[in-house]
Amino acid sequence: MTDTPTFELDGEAVPFTPGETIYEVSQRHQANIPTLCYDDRLEPFGGCRLCVVEVEGYRNPVASCTTVAMAGMKVRTATAQVEKHRKTLVELLTSENPHKKIDPLRGAASQELVTLQRRYGATGERFAGKTSGTSREDDPNPFILRDYDQCISCYRCVRVCAEQESDYAISVMNRGFSTQITTEFDNLLEDSDCTFCGQCVQTCPTGALADRKALRAESLPEPLEATRSVCPYCGVGCSVDLMSKGDKLVAIRPARDGGANEGALCVKGQFAFDFVQHDDRLAYPMVRERGELRRASWDEALDRAAEGLAAASRDHGRHSVYAVASGRAPHESTYTLQKLIRAGFGTNYIDNCSRA
Ligand code: SF4
Ligand code: SF4
Ligand code: FES
Repeated sequence: MTDTPTFELDGEAVPFTPGETIYEVSQRHQANIPTLCYDDRLEPFGGCRLCVVEVEGYRNPVASCTTVAMAGMKVRTATAQVEKHRKTLVELLTSENPHKKIDPLRGAASQELVTLQRRYGATGERFAGKTSGTSREDDPNPFILRDYDQCISCYRCVRVCAEQESDYAISVMNRGFSTQITTEFDNLLEDSDCTFCGQCVQTCPTGALADRKALRAESLPEPLEATRSVCPYCGVGCSVDLMSKGDKLVAIRPARDGGANEGALCVKGQFAFDFVQHDDRLAYPMVRERGELRRASWDEALDRAAEGLAAASRDHGRHSVYAVASGRAPHESTYTLQKLIRAGFGTNYIDNCSRA
């Protein structure tokens, strides 16, 4: 049996599995290493250099997200030199971005840069000057706001689109201050390969890519709250966080720890929720009388449905009853309906529109 290798992290001997990076190991301990281009679902990129640490014997600080741990290393994660380096980097990034409020509604990771600006007291004034990224205000799609004035070129959006979605809908063009996130032929998103899965929005650490539907609730005063649920639209069973303000559903986000989706959603799961609060929804039971619908009590409507179903089953047999549940119904209702059809009527003629 071989001994588990260890290295020294801020004076403490820590075990690691060969192949792990310094940053990955640090996540299991007390180290508070900042990151901006890092997303644990993606290949390490090493672009932002926020995660630098000192390694004894190394001439310069190294990016902990791309440096593989080695036995016997002595790593220090928060020396004065490293913290000064990080502050300067955050100041440089801040100098590029207009100082505007980044509402948390923009996306799950949208507060990462803002949080680091606070941590380092970085205003950006020291390096005020040229900026990069041109917002695509002309892109009218209803889902994704492309506010590239806030972009810091971390490429998380491009990488998640390629590595997680295998979609390659967005890319990078130009260099330096002219760097710009773009689509093929610089088209609008709807004219590109984008499927509006929203992955780029949820990984963007600055809010440069933002959830346009969520931002409709920017003026609501209630706090933003998350409730864990499961997307009802298909059989994949993606875990979601239903984002609400007061009693209003304002956004849906993928759950990073969802077993079926690991932080991904499709366009339906993420953006198709307006029906929940739509004015066209029935607000009370209705029954048909001489061809016309009229308002009824629950008791009357349920009695009418029970009589009709019982008569069909009695006169034409159990297979004359067939139910189709809606993908927009709660899971509990869908479950109860299949119980009614199977146990109550003795038939398996039950389906769900989400199978489509
Ligand atoms: S749009 Fe956001 S995720 Fe994409 S490169 Fe810019 S800051 Fe990074
Ligand atoms: S409809 Fe989309 S988000 Fe919902 S469970 Fe299926 S794949 Fe997941
Ligand atoms: S998080 Fe390591 S370089 Fe960006």
